[in-house]
Amino acid sequence: MGENGSDNGDPAMTGNVEKDVYILRLERDTGCFEAFLSFVSAQSLKPDDLTHLTGKDDNKHYNELINPEKRKEFLAGRKAIKKALETMGFSDSDDIEVHRGVFGYPLLKGLVKDLPEVSVAHSSGLAAVLVFPAGQQMALDLEIIRVDRVSRIKAIRSVLTVDELRRIDDDQDMAAIPLYTLWSQKEALSKALKCGLTIPFPLLETMDPVYHGDWSEVHFRNFFQYRAITVLPGRNYALSLAMPRKTRINNIKEIAAI
Ligand SMILES: CC(C)(COP(=O)(O)OP(=O)(O)OC[C@H]1O[C@@H](n2cnc3c(N)ncnc32)[C@H](O)[C@@H]1OP(=O)(O)O)[C@@H](O)C(=O)NCCC(=O)NCCS
Repeated sequence: MGENGSDNGDPAMTGNVEKDVYILRLERDTGCFEAFLSFVSAQSLKPDDLTHLTGKDDNKHYNELINPEKRKEFLAGRKAIKKALETMGFSDSDDIEVHRGVFGYPLLKGLVKDLPEVSVAHSSGLAAVLVFPAGQQMALDLEIIRVDRVSRIKAIRSVLTVDELRRIDDDQDMAAIPLYTLWSQKEALSKALKCGLTIPFPLLETMDPVYHGDWSEVHFRNFFQYRAITVLPGRNYALSLAMPRKTRINNIKEIAAI
């Protein structure tokens, strides 16, 4: 969700989540594969962390960003992509660049074979990136959980369906985690579909949530092919991963502990 007045990667907010690249061990009936989750805070950017990786159209997008905090978040996202690609074994010499697809989604281009796909999200100065094998239809969204942002909470409530609202506790403070969780699940699905939030909100309705303590999962009424899994990095962010319904994360406990 876009934000004004970003906290710009306050270490108290971003915690230690950006330390590592986390490997998701995924499985489908057809076999196992890995996806790579990495975080970079705008705060940790160094002067030489400039627009490496950015292709021409991506660089144009960067140059059009006016808000300095948005610019830093963008760069943090590119650094997070680089971190994930390095962990996967790609190097600078592979000349991989980030481009933008027709609807604004990030697209990796390069001469190497089997280029993965990528999904990007930022919230309050922290960028999160998921790099996954092409064709696996995944995406992520990240939301800082702020109980004090009353207008945000109202905005989220305003797009929920009657059934979703019924599931949320009426107490706004208590309901903050489920509200941000719901929002991030919808936004993650919208990114997996590559259209973003240009589609009517009721189409992104969630159903059948299941809570497993430190992580939760949900299905989608109108997109039965997908589900979303949500974890709470640093206990102050909601991170949702949208993926095909039958894709399993075998090390979800490890990811939920971030
Ligand atoms: C995609 C969208 C939901 C992102 O929400 P947001 O609040 O701006 O911000 P987030 O931090 O969660 O995500 C931003 C990232 O989403 C990605 N993104 C943008 N459009 C996307 C799309 N259509 N599908 C998937 N991902 C997309 C980008 O990688 C972006 O990060 P980057 O600019 O650093 O590369 C929102 O921008 C949107 O609805 N866009 C609609 C698409 C659109 O208007 N396209 C214009 C051309 S038709």
